[in-house]
Amino acid sequence: MKPTTEPRIAPNERPKTYRVKSFGCQMNVYDGERMGEMLDEQGMSAAPEGEDADLVVLNTCHIREKAAEKIYSDIGRLTKGKTQEKAPMIAVAGCVAQAEGEEIMTRAPAVSMVVGPQAYHRLPDMVDNAVKGKRSTDTDMPAIAKFGALPTRKRRAPSAFLTVQEGCDKFCTYCVVPYTRGAEISRPFTGLIEEAKRLIDSGAREITLLGQNVNAWSHEDDKGRAIGLDGLIRELAKIPDLQRIRYTTSHPNDFTPGLIAAHAEVDKLMPYLHLPVQSGSDRVLKAMNRQHTAQGYLKLLEKMREARPDMALSGDFIVGFPGETDAEFEETLSLVDEVRYAQAYSFKYSPRPGTPAATMDNQIAREVMDERLQRLQASINRDQLAFNANTVGTTCSLLVERKGKLEGQWLGKSPWLQSIWFEGDAQIGDMVEVDVIEAGANSVQGVLRK
Ligand code: 5AD
Ligand code: SF4
Repeated sequence: MKPTTEPRIAPNERPKTYRVKSFGCQMNVYDGERMGEMLDEQGMSAAPEGEDADLVVLNTCHIREKAAEKIYSDIGRLTKGKTQEKAPMIAVAGCVAQAEGEEIMTRAPAVSMVVGPQAYHRLPDMVDNAVKGKRSTDTDMPAIAKFGALPTRKRRAPSAFLTVQEGCDKFCTYCVVPYTRGAEISRPFTGLIEEAKRLIDSGAREITLLGQNVNAWSHEDDKGRAIGLDGLIRELAKIPDLQRIRYTTSHPNDFTPGLIAAHAEVDKLMPYLHLPVQSGSDRVLKAMNRQHTAQGYLKLLEKMREARPDMALSGDFIVGFPGETDAEFEETLSLVDEVRYAQAYSFKYSPRPGTPAATMDNQIAREVMDERLQRLQASINRDQLAFNANTVGTTCSLLVERKGKLEGQWLGKSPWLQSIWFEGDAQIGDMVEVDVIEAGANSVQGVLRK
């Protein structure tokens, strides 16, 4: 940590309330929750909805678009028209903090702390520094140190995230993750089981195991034997009050026969798989350094569907990667037609500074990307609607996660990760059964079974 002595623009007393604004992926959501827990331990509390907070943590994402520029406008909004005393103390965390570090401090004097994703366990010390008028930056990457230094979990929610693995060694040519999150590391088995038990004791019924390459998780179990993600899943499944297990995001090359088999054998492992492919063209996949082919990906999905025939599939796609031709984009559409995703995410290629693809020839024009994205999303929506429509007339179990839009309505998740709403007598955290009666691409309705 490198404290400097320039004055910060913020109140001179310790913040009492905080707000953590997380952008981007689920790992950022997990990190944001953990930062909140640390600030709670320091005696602060989350600012009530709609009220200004004394400390604002911008937990940023660097994966696409001009995320870095966006944080400067967020900072401007937080400080605009406010005296130094009234402006909140501001911390910039997450992947933009990692990538830009000191530059944020220079460009934005209103920022008191810049803290990378591997260093946020030091946030409380940095707040103490900020109270004394010292600004600090910490973008060290001590890998696993963070988890041991975090307070025990207290979060109460029926569905909880648990980061098991971080970082990535794959170096896809468009992606900043290997630079912002660092090398692949797996958290140790015992710590994970303990954290899972705490989450379950405080009400979690579903746990989603998180990692940039979650299926590459491997460690030793409590008897010193090597285990992979399937072993961890089997162990978690033994905890009686845990009802559902999910994991995300996987890389096609890190699947083991054991993990595929777990989908056939472990009832608590939900029939949903998010498996990015990015493109249906082998030439583009090679230029992306994905290290798999379209056929290889399809073969893997076939095995998954053999293990679990009702598996709902999801994916990520990038359109307009440098040099992508019309014919190559058509190959992506064909792959989508073949897979019939239950849902999928698609993005326009966004050059990320420092990645090999950013300086490749033949960057694709914005209008071409727009048109390709629209066509791809039309195909994905078509399949999403078909998937949802297929569940009409069936009965399915829902984990109730929150209240719906209108009085008396509830929203729960199906095993296939659909959000289904229903009316009636229920509570957050209940597992209920509903008959699915109506489905659109984005909204599915159920009727509570008595
Ligand atoms: N441009 C567009 N999309 C990207 N993704 C990652 N990097 C980029 C980029 N530079 C997408 C990929 C990845 C998802 C998390 O974000 O599809 O799977
Ligand atoms: Fe990025 Fe590729 Fe690693 Fe995924 S596998 S995090 S896309 S480098």
